[in-house]
Amino acid sequence: MKKISKKILLPIFSIFISSQGWTQNSAHNYNMSLLNNGHEINSSDKRRPVKMTAEMSKHQLKNMRDHLEAIASIVSALAIKDFEKMQKESVRLASSPKMKMMCNNMGKATPGFTEMGLVLHSTADKLVHAAKKKDYDLFVKKLGATLRTCTSCHSTFKQEIVSQEEFHKSMSKIH
Ligand code: HEC
Repeated sequence: MKKISKKILLPIFSIFISSQGWTQNSAHNYNMSLLNNGHEINSSDKRRPVKMTAEMSKHQLKNMRDHLEAIASIVSALAIKDFEKMQKESVRLASSPKMKMMCNNMGKATPGFTEMGLVLHSTADKLVHAAKKKDYDLFVKKLGATLRTCTSCHSTFKQEIVSQEEFHKSMSKIH
């Protein structure tokens, strides 16, 4: 049990780290970004920008917070082996026409972003499947895989808020 909780907690902790872009000198980086009117200028941050309008940005972050809430509920259910709840909460992350549409929208002006989002949802489908089968070990494994899809996207992309015009310009370049 000790082993399992470590396995689960470590990746969850790393989501916080990567979602906040936390680095050893994060306080310094934060000041730097404030100096530059909120735009990142520090060279230690190698994440690629995912271009979004202000409205999309708010929407995306809300989805993200919902994803983390789902993970928190999944872990609580996992602790008491409540497979029904594990399944129900995993469905919140799984593929659906709505999820696909959102991922397509968010990545419209940024090559590679939608694809990474879709990998999250297809990995979460396997989580749902493991819960249905009441296969605890498989579920833990797939939860780890799901969390790695979060952290790998977080270390690849960061939001960049752009105007409607710039968004459409970037979109037409790649479509
Ligand atoms: C396709 C890419 C992608 C995937 C997959 C992804 N995220 Fe994110 N997430 C982002 C981006 C981009 C941000 C904004 C980070 C930035 O601009 O610095 C973000 C931010 C967040 C935030 C901060 C929200 C806020 O209000 O500031 C949380 C929490 C989060 N993600 C949780 C998750 C969890 C949990 C998962 C997996 C279940 C996940 N994310 C998967 C791209 C992704």
